[in-house]
Amino acid sequence: MKGIILAGGSGTRLQPITKVTSKQLLPIYNKPMIYWPLETLIQAGIQDILIIVAPENAGDFLKLLGSGKEFGVKFTYEIQDKPEGIAQAFLIGENFIGDDSVMLILGDNLFEDDFSEAVKSFQGGARIFAKEVSDPKRFGVIEFDKNMKALSIEEKPQNPKSNYAATGLYIYDNSVINKVKSLKFSPRGELEITDLNMLYLKEKNLDARIVQNRWLDTGTFESLFEATKVAREIELKKRG
Ligand code: G1P
Repeated sequence: MKGIILAGGSGTRLQPITKVTSKQLLPIYNKPMIYWPLETLIQAGIQDILIIVAPENAGDFLKLLGSGKEFGVKFTYEIQDKPEGIAQAFLIGENFIGDDSVMLILGDNLFEDDFSEAVKSFQGGARIFAKEVSDPKRFGVIEFDKNMKALSIEEKPQNPKSNYAATGLYIYDNSVINKVKSLKFSPRGELEITDLNMLYLKEKNLDARIVQNRWLDTGTFESLFEATKVAREIELKKRG
């Protein structure tokens, strides 16, 4: 399985700290934000990783991360010219993905879980990861039936059907490339990851798992501050 980290976007909600750098290069406690999703992929067993960045700071990512040798894996880089949606990652990464399946993680998402079993047991379709949150309106929201099977998924709904957010981690089979090609841009001008997941759901090929440990997205000042505190706890716990 291949891996993609999407670290594009302009970080508009974090101005002025993102004026001269990318959100994913900001420090979260003791390391740049992008190290967290990167370590999640590596821990999951992914060794071939495409890093998609915005054009303005592409050089900084290359300087920071290099070839991947230091991490024991291989990095490839691509540019996302404009922030036109998460699902666009699969068009940008089409050649890189080739005939493989792919795990995508957002460059501003921090996970504590180990996803290696979720990767090993993946057989096809789509696998997404849900976490209960207090402010579901900010996210893609997954509705479950009593057997925890996904029933619906909606992007930033006004009236969320549950408190389960779709986190920024996704596994897809190779049909993802053709599925994204059939998507239309949403009213906000993006190829929506939620629209892609709805295609898999319609086919009954969407499996949603629950994230067991902490998950943080870092798109706002509050969540960025919270992430720094949690990251410190996680790091100190690891050191024992
Ligand atoms: C994106 C997705 C959303 C998901 C979130 C996770 O939101 O569109 O479905 O819940 O990432 O971080 P955005 O960061 O574009 O607001």
